[in-house]
This record gives sequence, C-alpha cells and structure tokens, in this order.
Amino acid sequence: MKGFMAAFFVWTLISANRDGGQAWPTHTVCEDGSLKILYQSCDPLQDFGFSVEQCSKYLKPNLNIRFGIILREDIKELFLDINLLTKGASILSYSYPVCEEDLPRFSFCGRRKGEQIYYAGPANNRGFEIPEGEYQVLLKLYNEKHSMVACANATVISS
Ligand SMILES: *[C@@H]1O[C@H](CO)[C@@H](O)[C@H](O)[C@H]1NC(C)=O
Repeated sequence: MKGFMAAFFVWTLISANRDGGQAWPTHTVCEDGSLKILYQSCDPLQDFGFSVEQCSKYLKPNLNIRFGIILREDIKELFLDINLLTKGASILSYSYPVCEEDLPRFSFCGRRKGEQIYYAGPANNRGFEIPEGEYQVLLKLYNEKHSMVACANATVISS
C-alpha cells in the first residue's frame, strides 16, 4: 500500500514535469510464472496508478484492486470500454457502467474534477481463467459527457 502510494505520487510528479510528446512509462501490474500484465497510460495529459492484489491467470471473483488518479472531469457517471485484441484483431468489445446516477457501484462515484481518487477494494468482477495467449487490451474510462477520464493500453501474457 505504501509502495503503491509512493509510486502514484512519483507518477503525479512525472506528469507535472514531463515535456510533451513522449509516451508514459510502462507499469507492471503483475508478473509471476504464468501471467504478466503491463500497462501504459494513453491519456496524453496524465498517468495513473493501478495494481491488483493477486497475480494469477485464474482470476478470482471480486478481485481486490488499487487505483489512484487525479480527476480531470466530474464523474457523476462513469463508463469503462474494454477492447480486447490478439494479434491485432479485435476479439471482444465490452462496455461496463462503473457509475450510474441511480446505481453508483463504487465509493468514488460522484467525485468532482480536481479531486484525487484512491480506491482500494473489490473490482466487482466475475471469476474466470485467462486463456493462454498474448493479448492487447485497450481501456477507456469516460463520463456522461464522453470526456475522457482515463485511458490505458495493456499487454497481458498468459502461459
Ligand atoms: C501501448 O501502445 C503502444 C503504441 O501502440 C505500444 O508501443 C506499447 O507497447 C503499448 N504498451 C503496452 C504496455 O501494451
């Protein structure tokens, strides 16, 4: 937890001092014998911190995650688009409502622009096994006005 927060603040600092045009650093979410997950922010304006409690291709339900970001937009409503590709071809597109006005699923729903979110808790996911292979995952978080809140591209290698 401490390490995560420290890393998050370092990224925040990098974000303040970075000169334009460069890609964000690649972060390792997880690396063990059979699973490797790397991600990079694809929001030109900021990086963010993300980690998972468990690193296994057998994803358990309600996996605990940690997520830190500074909001550049209000998130009365928040949606996550996931696009899964393998060898450049899309195999799955999926949209998940994270925060809806009538159904705020997480404690951070409704937070305002400029606030810092630090979430540590269950991801509300189903359990499943990540099939063997190498995947590219594009993740986009956006609000009810379709303004980008966060963007990431990740590489997942399951063996
Ligand atoms: C993110 O996308 C860029 C550009 O396509 C790519 O070079 C980079 O390797 C990707 N990063 C990860 C962690 O998948």
